Amino acid sequence: MALGVMSLLCSFLAVLSIAMTATAGDEAALLAFKAHLSNGGLLASWNSSAGFCSWKGVTCSHRRPARVVALRLNATGLTGPLSPAIGNLTFLRTLDLGTNSLHGDIPASLGRLRRLQELYLGENSFSGTLPVNLSSCTSMTNMGLYNTKLSGRIPAELGEKLTALVAISLRNNSFTGPIPASLANLSRLQVLDLSNNQLVGSIPPGLGSIQSMRFFNLFGNNLSGMLPPSLYNWSLMGAFEVGYNKLHGNIPDDIGSKFPKLYYFGLGHNQFTGTIPSSISNISSLETIGLYHNGFSGYVPPTLGKLGALQTLYFADNKLEADDNDGWEFITSLANCSKLKTLELSINSFGGQLPGPIVNLSTTLRFLQVMNNRIFGSIPADIGNLVGLEVLG
Ligand SMILES: *[C@@H]1O[C@H](CO)[C@@H](O)[C@H](O)[C@H]1NC(C)=O
Ligand SMILES: *[C@@H]1O[C@H](CO)[C@@H](O)[C@H](O)[C@H]1NC(C)=O
Ligand SMILES: *[C@@H]1O[C@H](CO)[C@@H](O)[C@H](O)[C@H]1NC(C)=O
Ligand SMILES: *[C@@H]1O[C@H](CO)[C@@H](O)[C@H](O)[C@H]1NC(C)=O
Ligand SMILES: *[C@@H]1O[C@H](CO)[C@@H](O)[C@H](O)[C@H]1NC(C)=O
Ligand SMILES: *[C@@H]1O[C@H](CO)[C@@H](O)[C@H](O)[C@H]1NC(C)=O
Ligand SMILES: *[C@@H]1O[C@H](CO)[C@@H](O)[C@H](O)[C@H]1NC(C)=O
Ligand SMILES: *[C@@H]1O[C@H](CO)[C@@H](O)[C@H](O)[C@H]1NC(C)=O
Ligand SMILES: *[C@@H]1O[C@H](CO)[C@@H](O)[C@H](O)[C@H]1NC(C)=O
Ligand SMILES: *[C@@H]1O[C@H](CO)[C@@H](O)[C@H](O)[C@H]1NC(C)=O
Ligand SMILES: *[C@@H]1O[C@H](CO)[C@@H](O)[C@H](O)[C@H]1NC(C)=O
Repeated sequence: MALGVMSLLCSFLAVLSIAMTATAGDEAALLAFKAHLSNGGLLASWNSSAGFCSWKGVTCSHRRPARVVALRLNATGLTGPLSPAIGNLTFLRTLDLGTNSLHGDIPASLGRLRRLQELYLGENSFSGTLPVNLSSCTSMTNMGLYNTKLSGRIPAELGEKLTALVAISLRNNSFTGPIPASLANLSRLQVLDLSNNQLVGSIPPGLGSIQSMRFFNLFGNNLSGMLPPSLYNWSLMGAFEVGYNKLHGNIPDDIGSKFPKLYYFGLGHNQFTGTIPSSISNISSLETIGLYHNGFSGYVPPTLGKLGALQTLYFADNKLEADDNDGWEFITSLANCSKLKTLELSINSFGGQLPGPIVNLSTTLRFLQVMNNRIFGSIPADIGNLVGLEVLG
C-alpha cells in the first residue's frame, strides 16, 4: 500500500518534472531570444514577475503544462540577431517577427518547429541563405520572407516537403538560380511571390498543375524561355505578373475562357509577340493590363469597352497599329469604361489622326499618353472634356 502510494507519487513527480522542464525550456528559449537582441529592453514585460504566458507577444496553449504556441512581435522595433533558441519552442504554430531590424542568419534550428504554420520574418535585414532545414517545418501554410537580404538558391526541398503551403513570398531578396521544379508539388498553393530577385532559367511548366493558384508574381527577375502554356490552366487566377524578365510567347487566343477571375495581367518588359486576342474582352473582372515593352503587333481589340472594371492599360513600346481607316475603334469602345484611369499608348505604330471619340473617355482618366507614334493632324477641340486629366503626353 505504502509502496503503491510511493510509486504513484514518484511517477507523478516524474511527469511534473518533465512538464516543468518543457515549461522551463520555453521560458529559457524566450529569454535567450531576448538576450540576443541589442535592444531586448523593449521587452520589459518579459521578466520573472509574471509567468511567460503573459509576456507581450506570447500566446500559450491552454493545456498543461502551458507551451508557447504563438510569438507575435511584428513591428515592435526589435534589433539584433535571431537566437537559435527559438527552435526550442517546439509547440510554436505562429512566429511573426516581421517589420523589425533583425539581422544575421535565419537559424537552421527553426527546422525543429514541426507544428509551425505561419512564419513571418519579412521586412528585416536577414542575410545568408534560406536554410534547407526549414523544409522540415512540414505544417507550414504561410511563409513571408519578403524585403530581407537573403541570397543563394531557393531550396528544392521546400517543394518536396512543405506540401501544406498556401502562400509563400520571397519577394525583394537576392535569390539566384532557377525556380525549383519541385514547387509543382505544392498542390494547395494560392500565392507565389518570387518578384524582385535574380532568378534565372525558365518557369517550370509543372506549376500549371497547381489548381488553387490565384496570385502569381515573378516580376523583376532574369527568367527566360517561353511562358509555359500550362499556366493558363489556372482557373482561379486573379493577379498574374511576370513583367521585367526575358520571357517570350503569345497570349493564347482563348485567354477569355481561361482566366475568368483575372483582375491583373502583367507581361510588361519581356519579348512577347503576336496580337492581343479579342477574347481578352470577355474577362469582365480585368482592371489592369500591362503589356508595355514587348513585340505585340496588330490592332487593339475593338471590344475592350466590355471591360467595365478596367482602370489601367499599359500598351507602350510595342508594334500596335492603327490608321485613319482601321485600328482606332478601341478608343470609341473604351469610352464605355467608366473607371478608366490610365491609358498609355506611346511608342507604337498608331497613325492617322487622333480619333475624335477620345474626348469621350471617362472623366476619371488621369493619365493619357500617345507619344512617339505616327499620329498627325490636330488635337480634338473637346479634349478639355477630360477634366480629370493630370498627364497628357
Ligand atoms: C535549446 O535546446 C537545446 C537542446 O535541447 C539545449 O541544449 C539548449 O540549452 C536550449 N537552449 C535554450 C536557450 O533553452
Ligand atoms: C515586469 O513586467 C511587468 C508586466 O508583466 C511590468 O509591470 C513590470 O514593470 C516589469 N518589471 C520591470 C523591472 O521591467
Ligand atoms: C506588421 O506590421 C506592419 C506595420 O504595422 C503591417 O503593415 C503588417 O501588415 C504587419 N504584418 C503582419 C503579418 O501582421
Ligand atoms: C538541420 O537538419 C538536419 C537534418 O534534419 C539536422 O541534422 C540538423 O541538426 C538540423 N540543424 C539544426 C540547427 O537544427
Ligand atoms: C526591398 O527591401 C529593402 C530591404 O531589404 C527595402 O529597403 C526596400 O524598400 C524594398 N523594396 C521594395 C520595392 O519593396
Ligand atoms: C514531388 O515530390 C516528390 C517527392 O515527394 C518528388 O519525387 C517529385 O520529383 C516532386 N515533383 C517535382 C515536380 O519535383
Ligand atoms: C539579368 O542579367 C543581366 C546579365 O545577363 C544582368 O546585367 C542584370 O543585372 C540581371 N538582372 C537581374 C534583375 O538580376
Ligand atoms: C489543362 O488542364 C486540362 C485538364 O483540366 C488538361 O487536360 C490539359 O492538358 C492542361 N493543359 C496544359 C497546357 O497543361
Ligand atoms: C466572349 O464570350 C461570349 C459569350 O460567352 C462568346 O459568345 C464570345 O465568342 C466570346 N468572345 C470571344 C472573342 O472569345
Ligand atoms: C459597357 O460596359 C458594360 C459593363 O460596365 C458592359 O456590360 C457592356 O457590354 C459594355 N458595352 C459595350 C458596348 O462594350
Ligand atoms: C461623344 O459622346 C456623345 C454622347 O454620347 C456623342 O454625342 C458625341 O458624338 C461623341 N463625340 C465623339 C467625338 O465621338
